[in-house]
This record gives sequence, C-alpha cells and structure tokens, in this order.
Amino acid sequence: AMIALRQLLDHAAEHGYGVPAFNINNMEQIHAIMQAAAETASPVILQASAGARGYAGEAFLRHMVAAAVEEWPDIPICLHQDHGASPAVCQQAIRSGFTSVMMDGSLHEDMKTPASWDYNVQVTARVVDMAHAVGVSVEGELGCLGSLETGQAGEEDGVGAAGTLDHSQMLTDPAEAADFVAATGVDALAVAIGTSHGAYKFTRPPTGDILDIERIAAIHRRIPDTHLVMHGSSSVPQEWLQIIRQYGGEIGETYGVPVEALVAGIRNGVRKINIDTDLRLAMSGAMRRLLAEERQEFDPRKVFRAATAAAREICRLRFEAFGCAGHA
Ligand code: G3H
Ligand code: 13P
Ligand code: NA
Ligand code: ZN
Repeated sequence: AMIALRQLLDHAAEHGYGVPAFNINNMEQIHAIMQAAAETASPVILQASAGARGYAGEAFLRHMVAAAVEEWPDIPICLHQDHGASPAVCQQAIRSGFTSVMMDGSLHEDMKTPASWDYNVQVTARVVDMAHAVGVSVEGELGCLGSLETGQAGEEDGVGAAGTLDHSQMLTDPAEAADFVAATGVDALAVAIGTSHGAYKFTRPPTGDILDIERIAAIHRRIPDTHLVMHGSSSVPQEWLQIIRQYGGEIGETYGVPVEALVAGIRNGVRKINIDTDLRLAMSGAMRRLLAEERQEFDPRKVFRAATAAAREICRLRFEAFGCAGHA
C-alpha cells in the first residue's frame, strides 16, 4: 500500500532505523528494490527525478509503481519526487499520485545556481502549504551538496552546480537548519555534510575532515522532530568498479560513503538515505560481465535479469544495514 513519507519516517524514528530511498527509472530497478524489500520485509521509498520522468514518461512511471503496489500488497511504498526544481514540478508530482515531494530550493530552477535563503524559504513554504493540504509530505534542502576536497559544488541531478563555494556556504549550519524548518514546516530536511551526487565523491576513503557526520548530530539536536536526509549516499563499491574495469569500462579511482558512515548517520537522526549511483554501477557492471562472458547471447531479458539481480543484492544489503529489514 502507498504511505506518505512522514508516516514512514515517524515509524523509522520511533524504532531507530533508516530507510534507503532508491531512484527508479525503469521496471528492472523497481523489481530489484521490491524483490529485496519482500525478501527482507522492508518498507520502501521509490524516488523519481525529473530525469526519470523524462526517460520513462510520467504515465509509465505511475503505472509501474501501481503495478508494484498490486504485486507486493504487504510492502508500504512511498513514492517520492526527487529534487523538485520548482513548486510547479512538485504540484505535477502530487497530481500524478506521489505521496512525498522534495522541493529543492537550495538551487534555482536551473538546478545549477545556488539560491538565496529567501528564495529557498519562499518556494519551500509554498510547496508545504500545497502538499500538506492533501496529505503529501515535503522534503527541503539547506546547503549545497558538493565536495569539501575541491570546494567545488557537486552535481545536482546530473548538472554541475555553478561556481566555487566556501565550506560555510556548502555545509548545513545547525542554527540555520532550525530557522529553516520553523519558517517552512518541512517534514524532512536534506543536509549537506560533504557528500556529492554521482560516482566521483572522494579521491580517498573519506575521513571526518571531508565527511562531517558530527554535523548531523549537531543538526539533530536542534531539530529532533525533523527527519534528516542524506543525499549522495552511494558507497561506490570497489568490487563493482573492478568488474566494470575488467569488462572494458573506464572508471577512475574513486570512493563513496562507507555503509558504516551511513549507519552512524542513522544513529544521529538520519532517516532517509538517497542511493542511485550504486544501483547504476551494479547494473552496468553485471550487464558488461554477462555480455562479455556469454558472447552468443542476444536476448535482452537475460542481460536485464543479471542487472536486476545485481541491484537487488545492493538493496538487500542496505535494507539490512540500515535496520529497515523486518519493519514492513
Ligand atoms: O540526485 C540525482 C539522482 O541521482 C538522479 O539522477 O537526474 O540523472 O535521474 P538523474
Ligand atoms: P548517489 O549519486 O550517491 O547515489 O546519490 C543519489 C541522490 O542523492 C539522489 O537524490
Ligand atoms: Na529527494
Ligand atoms: Zn540528491
């Protein structure tokens, strides 16, 4: 059955677990997430970006999620708009049945230019009014996801954020987080602690100076009733990087957010953990391997089954590590 983000994360907070929010674009990703959720009895957050709607089409996404609800009636499913660029995008998502929307007012509608405090508060408060009136939850974002190592703002929805920001502009300030929640009424808040989107997060395994888990604890103390969200939470598994390279892929040395760091975040108030890149890496690695090892194969179902199985295993590991398993 469908569930709003607020209800799901309230339950997660009460029981001290975190819920992975996996990005969906196609049937295979939805199958992978739902099969792993059924296997582990976990509630799920399926999140769709603007790019996903462009890829699958709004009707296809909506009907594929409806099919998941029908196929797995016992699993609570939250359908979330990832990185809504404007109130209009969020309104459209609400019309098509999403039970949660993210208004990302940390950036302007171009999803590149960092926006002002006033802009962020204004658009986010407007979405909260609209969404809460119909029982839909809202996630906001304060701070800019980027890399502490380079000082360069990270990628938001695949488009490089413009300009070089200093640390104070990039990372979420605990006192400002409290003011932002009071001014907007968001249910959940995405915080910037040094992660960025995509496969290239860190050039070395992250330590406290570049991945600021302590900041989460400080934010959580200020706004204990607001669910914290970590974006850019892929772990970038080295074993999948090796498989991609072994079968002809070119991917440079890179490190993600270790699962233990995500678990530390959960201990300090993180309830929603956004993961897209890990499924992309596992699926493309599995497809490269299958096509290389079975060179006579041309049935795409065989290729996609391998991709689904690889993504499913990542999902299972995250449901278990985040304490989500058993809570469906
Ligand atoms: O936040 C970014 C997600 O990884 C979605 O990426 O815009 O390419 O669908 P996308
Ligand atoms: P990753 O690129 O680390 O998977 O992050 C995804 C994300 O934050 C989607 O909003
Ligand atoms: Na989101
Ligand atoms: Zn994100």
